Amino acid sequence: MATADASVALITGGGSGIGRGFALEMAKLNHIVIVSDVNEDSAESVAEEIRAGSGTALSRQFDVRDSAAAAALVDELLARYGRIDALFANAGVVGPADFWSIEPSDWDALLGINVKGVALISQLVAEQMKRQRRGRIIITASYNGVRVAEHVIPYRVSKAGVLMFSKCLALVMAPYGVTVNAICPGVTPTPLQLEYAEALAETRGITLDEYLKERRSRIPMGEMTTIEDLNALARFLVSDEARIITGQAIAVDGGVMASS
Ligand SMILES: NC(=O)c1ccc[n+]([C@@H]2O[C@H](COP(=O)([O-])OP(=O)(O)OC[C@H]3O[C@@H](n4cnc5c(N)ncnc54)[C@H](O)[C@@H]3O)[C@@H](O)[C@H]2O)c1
Repeated sequence: MATADASVALITGGGSGIGRGFALEMAKLNHIVIVSDVNEDSAESVAEEIRAGSGTALSRQFDVRDSAAAAALVDELLARYGRIDALFANAGVVGPADFWSIEPSDWDALLGINVKGVALISQLVAEQMKRQRRGRIIITASYNGVRVAEHVIPYRVSKAGVLMFSKCLALVMAPYGVTVNAICPGVTPTPLQLEYAEALAETRGITLDEYLKERRSRIPMGEMTTIEDLNALARFLVSDEARIITGQAIAVDGGVMASS
């Protein structure tokens, strides 16, 4: 059960997949968890799952593109708890696999959510962490931010952008004892990954199962990443043991990023 002075963790995109995993993990560490997501129902269902396990959580509908909503959310959390100890800037979307089918609006969505959406909430939370002289910012990036290929180009560009943002922010926050790191998940079977896989399978004219089998064979260790694999790193990055690790892009991907 969380105590009155328990650490406070804010997760964006916490209603599904990797963000849900981070939310449940922070609850296990006795953090007060704020599960935010553009999808109100999924955020509330994860918060409810945490409360059912005797954790402390609340959900907030929050679109990371909305700067006014970001400011209101941070103000509310500071009024309630007076602190934010960990931010998981995790919400993200994937875009068209095929270069020729990219629409102008895809750039708005990919850069708006995956880059601007990370930067807006990170800046606001960083301002508080600077005052606290303590905090952890963990940004979900991707091996796609360093790996060059001819498909999902707006997604790759967005993840390259957010990797640069996280390293720059790490330097800004270093004098205040706040660390900023990017977790780069490998192929993790979440709704987003399956949407991505389906689009690529369709582009290549193969089935989803055929694509996933072939995809696994291209992972140096031959295995997909699990939510538990990502949580192990998240747990470490929020711990005191990781106090001096900052500005890193850490892959949890069976060797995919190393082979880029
Ligand atoms: N799954 C993978 O294989 C993989 C690999 C590398 C990186 N990632 C990254 O991990 C992060 C999480 O992805 P996931 O696989 O868990 O996907 P997911 O689709 O399961 O979860 C993403 C969540 O983000 C939310 N979201 C989408 N747009 C939003 C917005 N505008 N504002 C707030 N929330 C929004 C969705 O509602 C959803 O709950 C993303 O940044 C993604 O790019 C995933």
